[in-house]
Amino acid sequence: MNNLRTNQLGRYFLPLDEVDSTNTYCKNHADELPHGAVVTALRQTAGKGRLGRQWADVPDAGLAMSILLHDVPPQKISLFPLLTGLAVSEGLEQLTGLHCPIKWSNDVLIGEKKLCGILCESRLTGTSGFAVIGIGVNLAQSAEDFAQHALVYASSLLLATGRRFSREEVMVSILNRLEPVLITYTAEGFSGDLLERYKQRCITLGRNVRIIREGKEQTGLATDIDPDGALVCIINGKKIRVLAGEASVRGLYGYV
Ligand code: BTN
Repeated sequence: MNNLRTNQLGRYFLPLDEVDSTNTYCKNHADELPHGAVVTALRQTAGKGRLGRQWADVPDAGLAMSILLHDVPPQKISLFPLLTGLAVSEGLEQLTGLHCPIKWSNDVLIGEKKLCGILCESRLTGTSGFAVIGIGVNLAQSAEDFAQHALVYASSLLLATGRRFSREEVMVSILNRLEPVLITYTAEGFSGDLLERYKQRCITLGRNVRIIREGKEQTGLATDIDPDGALVCIINGKKIRVLAGEASVRGLYGYV
């Protein structure tokens, strides 16, 4: 991969034509794949989204990639989605020159529409295990492609910039940001610089939001992100913490 500046992420690279899901592939082959392995596919026949949803596949229009990390302490894994969101946001911004904010917890946007989704999975055995970070970036979908899948709040790099970005340049821009983010997280946790950078890019903060959990919906004001990655909201005058992975958060009148 041209311009890859990482030591580990993407140094082993497996580009597949078609697979059910790159995340599932990494999980099923974790024993054979090295730490930092990156698996991509031109087409996913059963791409997975968050909260049990599907990740729609438009052939040749998206980047579907998964990164395998070995020997991850279980308590570290819950923040991987937010850290990956931060790295994708910073990487894509550097690549495109456009602002790519994060909608808590880990959707990366362009022009208030979703550009990238992230699904982290893990298998833990005792004190350690492996994690798979799955990243789907919309590269070249048209408005008609999104309409066909009833994706009202989605955009692609092509729609937003008018330019066709290659899978490789997008992948490299993400990996080059993600590796230092993970190194800083291991050294310092999520409390200092990383948390500040995340908050600066988080479009959810300061907004009135709908919090959808277990089929129930509440309305509140999103005021902060805490060092556990939880969204702090004021609901009926009370401060509550919303945990990533348990809820969907939407704007009062739309996606953001
Ligand atoms: C979401 O926003 O719901 C998360 C979407 C994650 C999609 C990516 S595409 C590559 C990897 N393989 C999958 O099956 N899912 C993730």
